[in-house]
Amino acid sequence: MRISVFGAGYLGAIHATCMAHLGHDVTVCDVDAPKVALLSSGHTPFFEPGFEELLQATLASGRLVFTGSADEAVRGAEMHFICVGTPQQQGADAADLRYVEAAFNTIVDNVDVSGTIVGKSTVPVGTAQRLAGLVSERGEDDPHLEVAWNPEFLREGTAIQDTLNPDRLVFGVDSQTSEKAMTEVYAKLINDGTPYITTDLATAEMVKVAANSFLATKISFINAMAEICEVASADVVTLSRALGYDDRIGSKFLNAGLGFGGGCLPKDIRAFSARAGELGAADAVSFLREIDKINQRRRERVISIVGNIFHGDFLGRHIAVLGAAFKPNSDDVRDSPALNVAATMHLKGASVCVHDPQAIDNARRMFPTLTYCGSLKDACRDADLIVLATEWGEYRNIDPNEFRALVRQPILVDARNALDHNYWSESGWQVHALGRGVLNR
Ligand SMILES: NC(=O)c1ccc[n+]([C@@H]2O[C@H](COP(=O)([O-])OP(=O)(O)OC[C@H]3O[C@@H](n4cnc5c(N)ncnc54)[C@H](O)[C@@H]3O)[C@@H](O)[C@H]2O)c1
Repeated sequence: MRISVFGAGYLGAIHATCMAHLGHDVTVCDVDAPKVALLSSGHTPFFEPGFEELLQATLASGRLVFTGSADEAVRGAEMHFICVGTPQQQGADAADLRYVEAAFNTIVDNVDVSGTIVGKSTVPVGTAQRLAGLVSERGEDDPHLEVAWNPEFLREGTAIQDTLNPDRLVFGVDSQTSEKAMTEVYAKLINDGTPYITTDLATAEMVKVAANSFLATKISFINAMAEICEVASADVVTLSRALGYDDRIGSKFLNAGLGFGGGCLPKDIRAFSARAGELGAADAVSFLREIDKINQRRRERVISIVGNIFHGDFLGRHIAVLGAAFKPNSDDVRDSPALNVAATMHLKGASVCVHDPQAIDNARRMFPTLTYCGSLKDACRDADLIVLATEWGEYRNIDPNEFRALVRQPILVDARNALDHNYWSESGWQVHALGRGVLNR
């Protein structure tokens, strides 16, 4: 199928590359010229394991093109995917839909053959129906356009695998023509056994925000338990393990720590609350505000643990923060809990050195006043305290004996419960962690 993709960010660039890998002819349009040039030359504007190799192989096949020209992307395409951002509006909780609307209008203005516009961006329920209303008013001589919604569930860090082998596909459609188009474009995945659900536009939009709300709730649930463990001298790591064995609960997303961040969960739960309010159903999801608050409190808790260690005096303290990305295997620093903690300690007067295996360039753009270190050892050298803020695999391999010789004071705050605390303690470290009242006994 000849396809256009609008937006070459984390979602669009990966979706487009995977669609071309599956055999479609794909042209990707982005308004960011340097990003288009970078991707065209086979280099990725963000870190995603396996992406650069797949991008280069797919570009070489001739089935994938990046362009700044909407006309070039849309011309002759039967399907148009909208993958642009839907950030939080400034000064409000609702989603900012201006990029979706701009991409949609550009597609409508440029189409020369009949086809389907498929939204993948995460949008408030009701958006797709509203956009479908706009194309239904087109003239009889214009190429016919359908609107479908196909929410995306990829996770940064495993995005290629999630796209080529998804848990499920969801097709929001309002005609048999779009249903047929959706099953055709994903025929390879469906033939390989990927389950798919066909539903109406509103339900498809809801699946995405409901899934993210559930995941955020599960994370904040265990973090709320961590708060209780801290005051009750109990241990959230053991609690979580014991809960996770119950297959009605499951162990995934049940690790107590610094909480969620990134470009999706925080803004999606806020936009969902805002949309529920517009629909007169604010009470139904009022709990999401508590989920958000629990999440924010974890960041404050790390600051207060560090503050207690320093008797409230951050001035002149050297703190190494391990991790800047919002999660491991990503260089995404949008609403990163790690950077939030690093920046707050810096503002309180500490000298903070941040290390991250991939996210330093993005972090520096967001917080230029922090110090960044490409070497883990250099970041920790002469530190008065180390905060583990993002659980990259390489931090698990740190030898606490070796690092004790580097630092000024062997004090660790493990904000992700990622390290072996007994081993670190036995190696002479004073260890603090979230939800481990047991350490404070
Ligand atoms: N990042 C993820 O892991 C993920 C997962 C699932 C769903 N989503 C959703 O996907 C959407 C995109 O997220 P992202 O992380 O890829 O965002 P992003 O900010 O990385 O990328 C968005 C891209 O769209 C481009 N753009 C903006 N307006 C445009 C226009 N009119 N025409 C062409 N390009 C335009 C921007 O230049 C940018 O490159 C959001 O709704 C997000 O919630 C993201």
